[in-house]
Amino acid sequence: MAELVPVEPFDIVVFGATGDLALRKLVPALFHRWCDGQIPAESRIVAASREDMPTEKYWDLAATHVLSEDSSDNRRARWKEFLAHVTYVAVDATGAGEGWPQLARALDDAENKIRLFYLALPPSLYGPVCKAIGAHKLNTPNARIVLEKPIGSNFHTAREINDSVGEVFPENSIFRIDHYLGKETVQNLLILRFANFLFEPMWNANGIDHVQITVAESLGAGQRASYYDRSGALRDMVQNHLLQLACLVAMEAPSSLDADAVRTEKMKVLRALRTVDESSVTRDVVRGQYQAGAVDGESVEGYADEVGHDSQTETFVAIRAHIDNWRWAGVPIYMRTGKRMAAQRSEIIVQFKDVPHDVVGASNAGTHPNRLIIRLQPDEGVKLMLTTKDPGPGGLRLRYVPLNLSYAEHFDKDYPDAYERLLMAVVRGNLGLFMRRDEVEAAWRWVDGIIQAWDDGQSKLYGYPAGTDGPTQSALLLATEDREWFDAFSA
Ligand code: BG6
Repeated sequence: MAELVPVEPFDIVVFGATGDLALRKLVPALFHRWCDGQIPAESRIVAASREDMPTEKYWDLAATHVLSEDSSDNRRARWKEFLAHVTYVAVDATGAGEGWPQLARALDDAENKIRLFYLALPPSLYGPVCKAIGAHKLNTPNARIVLEKPIGSNFHTAREINDSVGEVFPENSIFRIDHYLGKETVQNLLILRFANFLFEPMWNANGIDHVQITVAESLGAGQRASYYDRSGALRDMVQNHLLQLACLVAMEAPSSLDADAVRTEKMKVLRALRTVDESSVTRDVVRGQYQAGAVDGESVEGYADEVGHDSQTETFVAIRAHIDNWRWAGVPIYMRTGKRMAAQRSEIIVQFKDVPHDVVGASNAGTHPNRLIIRLQPDEGVKLMLTTKDPGPGGLRLRYVPLNLSYAEHFDKDYPDAYERLLMAVVRGNLGLFMRRDEVEAAWRWVDGIIQAWDDGQSKLYGYPAGTDGPTQSALLLATEDREWFDAFSA
């Protein structure tokens, strides 16, 4: 296990502390970092939410989440120590009601301490909360604000939110979370590309045939159905996670890993994305919605039954995107994401060009293009698919095999999860793992083009049985160009 460097002492106010994100991700993340000794004892956690309750009741609520994964004596003892740093304050996040003076009191002696405000709230409240933070003078010089996605639901609402947050916090104190940027394998992408010489000379239209990005989930909309039904896969996943992955694959080498150097290069990719409009949307975008089916051998209902009404919300989307610049001219970037798919799997596949001349001969059918597979989850790792000679007598036969870097086999698997890493990055002030304002807005502009074309009635919603790889039209998106989604998990 790598040596852990503690962060500076900090205070964090978690707004929306009784919500799913705070209880399932944030409090456990803080607790895990605490247990690993990364959070100094002078740090304080203020859980803030509308509901009036004593701190002890909040502790019990949080315990049901944290101790459910491990309730050993040792863990209970650490939990008790941790709780000594957690207080609960009932605050009306709109700023209109009660609680702000109490919140100010909970923080008061610490003007120069690092202070985080984490908004685990609906984005419509980001503006009002920031206004109230400003009005109560809680935005001290070392204060930072953390915004969860989605930041708005289109370019205009994102800009409004960014404007109102920007009235209270300078851009370098605003940490817009895309939790994919906190994943170990996603961070490794930059290192793989730019700390190895091997790939870069052919990482362009001369060497690469196309790129596939898949983020598949086996879960359905579940308890988040009311949010999801207003959002859909394009807004929920493509606008942020998939486009961020595409940026990391496609960007030019930054001059350093400095936050703005990286973000500026990502921004150039977003700007170069070819607009999808009514003339291209039916050709380049497939939308789907899951129907009843079976996942992991269990029958599950279709999306409309799950949300309780007919819905036009897409739970699957596949896109053929193009980046109009010199490096990527003519190289499609295929992206797909969906709920209730066959399995949970996230991966990036960079497929290189075929060899220019087949020295082996047609009788030895079996040459395949090289593929670099970056597996984000589960079974994190990197594979390079190569064609080799099948050893043994009996003539020349070819085998397509992986050079396999499995994280589980090569590294200590016990690394922090994305939220743990991102929270510590906010305390350290490392903006590189967060989205800059212009990135969020540029991503919305591109996604808005697709939504506009859909709204103009330009696109069908295809059904797919739960537990499959999405509608057949998704396979056709590639098949019409003589390509196919590669099943990296069985490679
Ligand atoms: C969230 C989406 O941002 O990412 C969810 O809102 C999705 O709908 C989740 O399930 C997927 O994250 P992960 O880390 O489980 O791949």
